[in-house]
Amino acid sequence: MKEKLEAILQAARQAAEQAPDEKQIEEIRVKYLGKKGELTALLKQMGSLSPEERPKMGQLVNDAKARVEAVINARKERLKSAAVELKLKAETLDITLPEKRVNVGGLHPLSIVTNDLIDIFQSMGFDVLDGPEVETDYYNFECLNVPADHPARDMQDTFYLADKILLRTQTSAAQIRTMETRKPPIRIICPGRVFRADEVDATHSPVFHQLEGLVVDKGVTMCDLMGVLEQFAHEIYGEDVKVRFRPSFFPFTEPSVEVDVSCTECGGKGCRVCKGEGWIEILGAGMVHPNVLRSCGIDPDVYTGFAFGIGIDRITTTRYKISDIRLLFENDKRFLEQF
Ligand code: PHE
Repeated sequence: MKEKLEAILQAARQAAEQAPDEKQIEEIRVKYLGKKGELTALLKQMGSLSPEERPKMGQLVNDAKARVEAVINARKERLKSAAVELKLKAETLDITLPEKRVNVGGLHPLSIVTNDLIDIFQSMGFDVLDGPEVETDYYNFECLNVPADHPARDMQDTFYLADKILLRTQTSAAQIRTMETRKPPIRIICPGRVFRADEVDATHSPVFHQLEGLVVDKGVTMCDLMGVLEQFAHEIYGEDVKVRFRPSFFPFTEPSVEVDVSCTECGGKGCRVCKGEGWIEILGAGMVHPNVLRSCGIDPDVYTGFAFGIGIDRITTTRYKISDIRLLFENDKRFLEQF
């Protein structure tokens, strides 16, 4: 019996140590220690032993059971921790892998410039307003001192949507809408899209952007207009830029001016960008025409004002040295990513 016991012990130990997983280790436990297991069977055979041998043998079998159990438990533990290790290994992150690129959007150059313009004028105390892109003939022309058949209408080729309904050709309509709803002192800007049936080329687009400005108060003079616009030009282009006021004509301002800055490319010597002129036109402006004030219910004998319309696209192309305005509207990612 003793030899048999030794043999069982040996076999059980070997089997347990080689068990590949927890399921098999359980099978081994049943095989040796279960109710019908080999060691249990051995205990049952003790009846055939003499009374003196029985306790000794009983002791030996119980020792053997305990040893087999210990081996099995140790193996179980080892298998368990190996499984955990395996799982952890599978979950490890490879921090040497290159990151996935996250594409964050950016602002369009026109938006960057518009935001800068808004900042500049807000810091001078201007309110920012919005106006409709679909306008009536009344707001876009008539109330701005451009009656039907007035030759000044030829200055702007208009997209008509219906009779007397059009896409605004200028943000100047915002002047009228403002003066109808606010009383002086007025200090507002209105940035937005405008539309003209222009032939598309490097400097013309049927859609472009303006920023209208309007100041109305008692005692506003041409000096105020010049001061504000000079300040604006220096904030956009730097202190070194030269600013020039050129007499011009707009039906809704009198006197009217166009404002040029010294060419940002050549500094004024004359180049391809300024077409040899040394100057670049950036805006139109003037003192609000008395007729316009009057038609909005503001007494021109008490109040005066000035208005200006800045070409946002022109500011953008000169600031970033963009040679073709069409680039601003094509939305090619390779172009836009540069800002
Ligand atoms: N609306 C004019 C244009 O589009 C610009 C302008 C605005 C001129 C305000 C004078 C005053 O050309």
